[in-house]
Amino acid sequence: LENGLGRTPQLGWNNWNSFGCDVNESLVRQTADVMVSSGMAAAGYTYVNIDDCWSEWNRDAGGNLVASRTKFPSGMKALADYVHGKGLKIGIYSSAGLTTCAGFPAGLGNEQRDADLWASWGIDYLKYDNCGDHQGRTAQDRYTAMRDALARTGRPILFAICNWGNDNVVQWGAATGNSWRTTGDIEGNWPSVMGILDAQPRYAGASRPGAWNDPDMLEVGHGLTDTESRAHFSLWALLNAPLLAGNDLRTMTAATRDILTNTEVIAVNQDWGGRQGNRIVDNGNTEVWTKPMANGSVAVVLLNRGSGATTVSTTAAQIGLGSASSYSVRDLWAHTTGTSSGTISTSVPSHGAAMYVVSGGGGNPGSTFSLLNNESAR
Ligand code: DGJ
Repeated sequence: LENGLGRTPQLGWNNWNSFGCDVNESLVRQTADVMVSSGMAAAGYTYVNIDDCWSEWNRDAGGNLVASRTKFPSGMKALADYVHGKGLKIGIYSSAGLTTCAGFPAGLGNEQRDADLWASWGIDYLKYDNCGDHQGRTAQDRYTAMRDALARTGRPILFAICNWGNDNVVQWGAATGNSWRTTGDIEGNWPSVMGILDAQPRYAGASRPGAWNDPDMLEVGHGLTDTESRAHFSLWALLNAPLLAGNDLRTMTAATRDILTNTEVIAVNQDWGGRQGNRIVDNGNTEVWTKPMANGSVAVVLLNRGSGATTVSTTAAQIGLGSASSYSVRDLWAHTTGTSSGTISTSVPSHGAAMYVVSGGGGNPGSTFSLLNNESAR
């Protein structure tokens, strides 16, 4: 969506994955505090987002949404002021139906009223779900109505579409929202993360600055091992996915914090070399994923989905870097730089990934990327 927002994938946090409906103002304030004190804000994380269940069960007599008096006793304006005071931005949630997934009043038919209210509170981001009665209207129509209402507020509000890849969102998403969910809800376990990953290649051509495929929020530090979390974060970064932490930032381990604040991996996520990352080799348990970088280098993820450590390899030619006598290979997790005569190969732990940026060779990587033949069948 050309509203000036989301020129790079949005970075932030959302309460849903770890807290579900159990959201309240102290959680949001404390999370904003930790986003700054942990170094996440300095690494680029900006949005502190509230998901479903933030409102009262009914609109007020004037038809306006009301923040839960027990969960948000200070009110949303005060909370937004607090988050803004930390140098961060705040997001809220609704649905393109009569109710949210949890049954609270939602936006359909009240788009302008709700958008105006959020703007008056200082809201910077809307996640717009797909639950509730659709009143027989198409998804494109329902999401376009909110897009236009947000625009009319005059406040910059990032618009994140959440309709799980349904209704051909890949065809109208870029004109309607800053991001759109491609798939169903992620869970904090490895099979869920891999299942969502497998559904992404078919969407790879749809994203671009201002308009990102969203494979759902992160489960880093939430149900995954540190090795799995590094692989998940590497892959979501390579996909130019929104990076919305879903763990409890207040209690995260140093290892989780170090994963979320790996600025070299985040730099790949925020880079646009013409297309998002994609899978170029699928050997079953081992895979090679690549993404062209704006400066002509190539970001590479070597993934091991199997149950034991194994060697995963690719070559400069395979990733589209032509043939040169020497390449520079930056390891984004070890933070070391080596050279290679063309082979990139390493032992990858079970459910793990290595991630590199490879440069040199004078190739034109953007021209060599194409979907694997079988991707559309996944
Ligand atoms: C479905 C969405 O996909 C989730 O991310 C979350 O927002 C829930 N709805 C909330 O009810």
